[in-house]
Amino acid sequence: MKVSTGIKNLDMIMDGGFVERSFNLVYGGGGTGKTLFTFNFLLNGAETGNSVLYVTLEESWEDIIRKLPDGMRKRLNAIKNNFHYLDFGSLRPVLGKEIMNVDVLMEAIASSIVVNNVTLVGFDGIAPLSIYYDDEHKLRSVIFNLSQGIKSYGATTVFTSEEIEGRSRYGTEEFVADSVIRLIYTGEKRRIQVLKSRGTDFVGGKHGLEIVSDGLRVYPKILFVGSKIKQKSVSIGIPKLDTMLGETFSGDITLLTGPPGTGKYLFGISFIKNACKQGKKGLFISFEDSVGKIKRRLEDSGDGKSLCRVVYIDSGNIDIYKLMWQLKSLATDANRLVLHGMNNLAGNDEYEDFVHEFLKYVRASGISTMVTYNTSQVIATNTLGDDKIVNLSDNIIKLLFAEIGGELKKILVIIKSHSPTHERGLVEYRLGKSGVVIVGKIEGMEGVISGTPTRQMEIKKRVESFFK
Ligand SMILES: Nc1ncnc2c1ncn2[C@@H]1O[C@H](COP(=O)(O)OP(=O)(O)OP(=O)(O)O)[C@@H](O)[C@H]1O
Ligand SMILES: [Mg+2]
Repeated sequence: MKVSTGIKNLDMIMDGGFVERSFNLVYGGGGTGKTLFTFNFLLNGAETGNSVLYVTLEESWEDIIRKLPDGMRKRLNAIKNNFHYLDFGSLRPVLGKEIMNVDVLMEAIASSIVVNNVTLVGFDGIAPLSIYYDDEHKLRSVIFNLSQGIKSYGATTVFTSEEIEGRSRYGTEEFVADSVIRLIYTGEKRRIQVLKSRGTDFVGGKHGLEIVSDGLRVYPKILFVGSKIKQKSVSIGIPKLDTMLGETFSGDITLLTGPPGTGKYLFGISFIKNACKQGKKGLFISFEDSVGKIKRRLEDSGDGKSLCRVVYIDSGNIDIYKLMWQLKSLATDANRLVLHGMNNLAGNDEYEDFVHEFLKYVRASGISTMVTYNTSQVIATNTLGDDKIVNLSDNIIKLLFAEIGGELKKILVIIKSHSPTHERGLVEYRLGKSGVVIVGKIEGMEGVISGTPTRQMEIKKRVESFFK
């Protein structure tokens, strides 16, 4: 049997939660959320009908309640009758160190468990035990005895300890505990890591963690993709381009890469607007251009009040795992998705996790996705921007400028598609009010991609005159 951790999405990475009657360690540095984790566990337990007990050795109950975020305080007030506490934090200064004797503690805990029918215990901060037990050996057996004692009453416990040099304070808590959770706060972002879960599976690595007024939320680093959806043939939304690409399917990832000014967002608009007109849901996520700019163009293209939704996301200082879950929820039921300006996320440490997980998710969910990526060079660019996306893409279209006949033309080249017979030549396109217009193939030019366009005829003529 599993007992919920009470923390949003944490059960997902812990195979359903804590094992019943287990003793679970949560450790981390100061301010990482140990107390709020414990509270969240108990609040959820009380809300779901359990009688719960909070034991504080360190801070007084009064101080803890004062510092509790408003949302959690409201939750507490609503289930007060199920929530019991033992305030050793207040008693310790009055009664002295004797109160930290494990037999005294255990007696108080046991009687509260029995009298109140407690099934969940939160034991917050074990450091004060060292006031009574100054020998580390002894302290270890005390922690062990506490765990066995509480378990023998059938309760499931969360206990907290501080992190010192990457480990829990006494280095022994991990061995006593059935599961070990580490909380991390870098000053910018919070992370949570399950290090051990005796007898059950868990998803390793660091996951996103957020503290909000009503509690903690976890953003797992994986998206738990559902069953695979059958692929259907779909249109890229730009007349003539479909034929040039060959076939494109639902769940395809189309990468559009090129320098600024090549109109990548208009490709994105063309990509979603037809689907939206047909009553399907389209989502345009912009990491670059403003919502206003994109919406205006959507309206220009005759798709003002459609099902297309445009969302701007500021990529500065973003928590990549939170973003992944936000996008997943925004994209629910979406048929088409544009991720515009993915290059803006590339500086993030966990960017690769995002690309891998999110693109895997859209593919499996059958959401046709266009990713646009800015490359910095304007002319003669060999780069496709990002290897990770390149490897995951079904279709790759490179956009570039080329000076042909004294004019700077916009050119697209299909680098990859499902079809072995896709167009391989240079295709000129224009940007119109209603989107992208394919002008046609540019014939007879060489060296356009390398930035030195030359007419094939001129070369031919030079070769012929040489042999004459
Ligand atoms: N309403 C809130 N919204 C967002 N963050 C909050 C809110 N309330 C508290 N926090 C954050 O929660 C953290 C404190 O959590 P908590 O008291 O559980 O930490 P702790 O690990 O127990 O700390 P200590 O080691 O000092 O006991 C702080 O970083 C604080 O900024
Ligand atoms: Mg605390």
